[in-house]
Amino acid sequence: IFKKLLYYKKINSTQTKLKTIADAVAREGVIVCADVQTGGYGRMKREWSSSNGGLWFSMLLKPALRPDEVSKLALIISLALNRVFKQKYGVKTNIKWPNDILFKGRKASGILVDMSAEQDIVNWVVAGIGINVNNVLPKELKNISVSLGEILNKFVGRAQLLAQFLCVFDEIYAAFKKSGFKIFVKEYNDNIVFINESIKIDTGFDIIEGVNLGIDGDGKLILKTPKGLEKITAGTVVKGK
Ligand code: BTN
Repeated sequence: IFKKLLYYKKINSTQTKLKTIADAVAREGVIVCADVQTGGYGRMKREWSSSNGGLWFSMLLKPALRPDEVSKLALIISLALNRVFKQKYGVKTNIKWPNDILFKGRKASGILVDMSAEQDIVNWVVAGIGINVNNVLPKELKNISVSLGEILNKFVGRAQLLAQFLCVFDEIYAAFKKSGFKIFVKEYNDNIVFINESIKIDTGFDIIEGVNLGIDGDGKLILKTPKGLEKITAGTVVKGK
């Protein structure tokens, strides 16, 4: 699906840029990519450090989904990224639900999914992906983040990394359209951190504590709590173990 890429040396945010043109672009698959973002942001509108050397891009998708199914798309994007890290670079990454890619507990990549929907129909999804590649991380992030270059102890070509991701995602996305989300559940749960461990999730409304049983066929995280099983649609894992 990827046939067009808009490349910027410096931009405010690839996500903001693609969102402003998303209505006018008919076909899915357009990519906006930048060397440096001056206003890169992540989930919960948190600042996303986007200096030179990292891979910062957003992709336009127009899936035939209901708005409540878009979280599944975010999960298969993390699966695609995790496959690329493991299979193409030999790096043993894991997924922190819903879609952070970790290496030994530090974040190598983050995914942000924005959408526009009317009633029950999704108009577009803009998925933003940030991968720490050769960028130097600010010292306040050194304990919690890591770059692919640091893991492999060498310079990593970003164009090749992007091409590999797009190739793997294209395949996964086609399988998702054809067969649905359920075919990815096992692979996701096999790669998730804190599986069968006690975790805490911040849902934005409250903090839920329980044993992480992995995701179900709808992409919801199942927690075993003293009150029974709880299904969580969105949130942030605030504590493992
Ligand atoms: C997160 O983990 O909170 C998600 C981070 C997403 C960062 C990417 S970098 C490319 C795109 N442009 C942005 O401003 N954000 C996303």
